[in-house]
Amino acid sequence: MKILGTGSALPKKVVTNDDLSTFLDTSDAWILPRTGIRSRHVISDEQIEDLGTEAALKALEMSGLKPSDIDYFLCSNVLTEFVTPGLSCIIADKIGLKCPCVDVNCACPGFIFALDIAEAKYKAGQVKNVLIVCCEEPTRMCDWTDRSTCVLFGDGAGAVVLGEGDNVKGVKLNAKPSPGQLWQKRKLHPTPYITKEEVDYPLQMKGREVFRFAVNASTTEVEALLKSLGMSKEQVTYYMIHQANLRIIDAIKEYLGEPERKFPTNIADHGNSSSASCTILLDECNRKGMFKDGDVLVFSAFGAGLLSAAAVLEW
Ligand code: COA
Repeated sequence: MKILGTGSALPKKVVTNDDLSTFLDTSDAWILPRTGIRSRHVISDEQIEDLGTEAALKALEMSGLKPSDIDYFLCSNVLTEFVTPGLSCIIADKIGLKCPCVDVNCACPGFIFALDIAEAKYKAGQVKNVLIVCCEEPTRMCDWTDRSTCVLFGDGAGAVVLGEGDNVKGVKLNAKPSPGQLWQKRKLHPTPYITKEEVDYPLQMKGREVFRFAVNASTTEVEALLKSLGMSKEQVTYYMIHQANLRIIDAIKEYLGEPERKFPTNIADHGNSSSASCTILLDECNRKGMFKDGDVLVFSAFGAGLLSAAAVLEW
């Protein structure tokens, strides 16, 4: 497949590190050097499905395709107010899509997992044009009295329209099942028969372990994928790394031995927006005119699961 259009949408409320320090025992002096985050967009009165819809419409407009041209829609999302139907159906209704709608819950690497499905169906001759929307509100998963998690996240949506082409050169998915490293649980409605104890837990994270996993998974997968494709790092134009923490991105850069200019970032103004992160970064870079035909983009993302994934795309 080939990327024909990109789009993104952000909540209007911007929360700076100084804003956080008015109600949390934290500071810009702690957050910025450890994460690279200065501010983040946070949902206030918006609905996540509206941000997903806005991102999708922008991507469709850029692609030149109409909603009726899309024959498969994948929505990557971890948390939404809707339990059912899936967020893909909610957004499809707003856009006027008539094609199958599929939800993907693969945490932060969700975009690459969705891309893998799209490419497999394309290669099987089952689809021609696919819309992927990644929309996330991880700020709604956190305990906002827990300074070790809530300062890290931001909300938003990114979208990609894919059409005919052989520009997806390779995708590598990985899982190292360890749900205890990064997780959240919610309480379900009771029934007269429930005898077990159920609890609501906000996002729980073993930060240092997740940090190590992220750096190790990303570097290993990127190198293995490039090798399997017979490609060298010199051929890579940009590394589009999941924007979780600037120190993670810096460590990946060091391990790969690649120059700073190949690693665009937007974490300073966004924080970690889960699976939306790579697609928002992609759209921002695209709209700045950073990509030209033949450029090689390497995507790499990691998160709860623990899941991770890498993909190589030619622009
Ligand atoms: N402000 C001020 N102090 C904070 C703080 C904050 N926002 N968050 C944590 N601290 C404190 C801790 O309470 C601890 O204090 P103590 O030593 O008195 O107990 C101290 O800072 C060190 O905490 P620690 O968690 O060990 O810090 P760290 O150096 O590991 O950095 C992260 C924490 C979260 C920034 C880092 O582990 C990280 O980025 N991990 C990856 C997380 C991630 O990206 N997850 C998503 C992947 S998709």
